[in-house]
Amino acid sequence: MSYNNILSQHENGITTITINRPNKLNALNKATIGELHEAFKAADSDKRVKVIIITGSGEKAFVAGADISEFADFSIENGGKLAAKGQELLFDFVENLSTPVIAAVNGFALGGGLELAMACHFRVASNNAKMGLPEVSLGVIPGYGGTQRLPQLVGKGRAMELIMTAGMIDANQALSYGLVNHITTTEELLPFCNGIASKIMRNSSVAIAAAIKAVNAGFKDGVDGYKAEITAFGDSFGTEDFKEGTSAFLEKRKADFPGK
Ligand code: COA
Repeated sequence: MSYNNILSQHENGITTITINRPNKLNALNKATIGELHEAFKAADSDKRVKVIIITGSGEKAFVAGADISEFADFSIENGGKLAAKGQELLFDFVENLSTPVIAAVNGFALGGGLELAMACHFRVASNNAKMGLPEVSLGVIPGYGGTQRLPQLVGKGRAMELIMTAGMIDANQALSYGLVNHITTTEELLPFCNGIASKIMRNSSVAIAAAIKAVNAGFKDGVDGYKAEITAFGDSFGTEDFKEGTSAFLEKRKADFPGK
């Protein structure tokens, strides 16, 4: 499938999706959100794809936010729909994918950009990255899950300060907050993420998908994460991957998971 605003490349089990509007610092307009939805959906349903990495093109930005030019004249109703549709198509969608998604944050990750990185399963940043939720400086609030996921990741007090000040933190501060897991140079960012992806790929994709679901269950309203874990744990015993993983261990060989 060909896209106008993104690139999607597959190599050795890894699909790398690159948001490709460098002249607009990869700002998320409606078309880009739609294409990202399609690309994530296609990668997640492709059995060859074991890990998805998302990054931004150019040297400056991962994503500098939702495209401000598209919503500047919106009404209350349009604003609500923008957030609801975006969350459904991209942010919740990514968080709940069965395939692990790594955000390779290669510069500004602001507003919707940081919200997209936070919807991914974890984040790695290059040392030039700058992150923040500047929405209140525009008279709005984060609408793509930022008020929920930032406190989950960094704690309520830090999230409140970042949101209220509309400020930016650098990669080191993001690392100390636990917002990103690692910092690399700009050149090393994608190779480093590919290295983590290779480690993930050695493991059972079925078990990984179940683990993602169980972790996410703990953050869902009205869902008991411990119960979800017990059910998913039990279900693991019925998979071919479990038979292969335990047999390989007992036979002192490397597991070759069928992914079933
Ligand atoms: N929406 C739409 N366009 C955006 C954008 C956004 N969120 N962020 C950047 N752009 C565009 C700029 O308008 C500019 O386009 P132009 O060259 O056609 O005028 C281009 O990207 C480059 O941005 P510029 O502001 O010139 O780069 P800079 O290096 O001076 O500043 C930022 C970088 C990130 C500090 C600045 O672009 C910015 O503050 N962006 C908005 C961040 C934001 O508030 N995001 C939350 C949105 S809810």
